[in-house]
Amino acid sequence: MAELTATRAAALDAHAVELRRIERSLHDGTQNRLVAVNVLLGAARRAVRRNPDRADEILGQAQDAAEQALGELRTVVRGILPPVLDDRGLAGALTGLASSCAVPCRLEVDVAVRCAASVEATAYFVVAEALTNVVRHSGASQVDVAVRRERGRLLVSIEDDGHGGANETRGSGLTGIRRRVEAYDGRMTLTSPPGGPTRMDVELPCGS
Ligand SMILES: Nc1ncnc2c1ncn2[C@@H]1O[C@H](COP(=O)(O)OP(=O)(O)OP(=O)(O)O)[C@@H](O)[C@H]1O
Ligand SMILES: [Mg+2]
Repeated sequence: MAELTATRAAALDAHAVELRRIERSLHDGTQNRLVAVNVLLGAARRAVRRNPDRADEILGQAQDAAEQALGELRTVVRGILPPVLDDRGLAGALTGLASSCAVPCRLEVDVAVRCAASVEATAYFVVAEALTNVVRHSGASQVDVAVRRERGRLLVSIEDDGHGGANETRGSGLTGIRRRVEAYDGRMTLTSPPGGPTRMDVELPCGS
């Protein structure tokens, strides 16, 4: 009961954090750019009669600002649901992550039936953050990623042969993973003794 209450609280918390992150990116990025577009369009309208050349110049700036707003918006949207999942499915998206990983990465995916989109997105973010950590912190020469679906659950593991010492309290990436996973009633375990290896196991209900 206590665990359920704590998990619910963590889920609401993770949800709130996620909403705040999206709100901040929309506010700081897209909204600011669109304000600039609006101001520039106003200036261009005022200039159009008495100084058409100047008006044209300002319209060019407005167009640039609109393009930047679009760019920012695409980044935010990608952060909510990576389009690569839609295009290529979970296996394809993970293949992309594995092949662009600076540490050699072996990938095994055994998922016959697709999971709910939000679950696939969570699995994708888990692997993306874990591989980034391997490259940044582990000193590993090899990393193994395995994903399989078993009895309605998606099991994800990432293991590297580096020097270990992963510590959730030292950054925001691992804590973020734990919160995301627990928000979906999943589980995350991390073992990383000094000297390695480092292994992360994530279990998510498939939701479909
Ligand atoms: N695979 C790994 N091997 C060894 N150490 C690791 C590994 N993954 C993480 N760590 C250690 O654990 C710490 C916490 O990782 P975490 O991902 O939470 O933060 P971070 O990567 O430092 O920053 P960010 O918030 O950008 O993710 C890292 O700073 C690093 O010292
Ligand atoms: Mg990290």
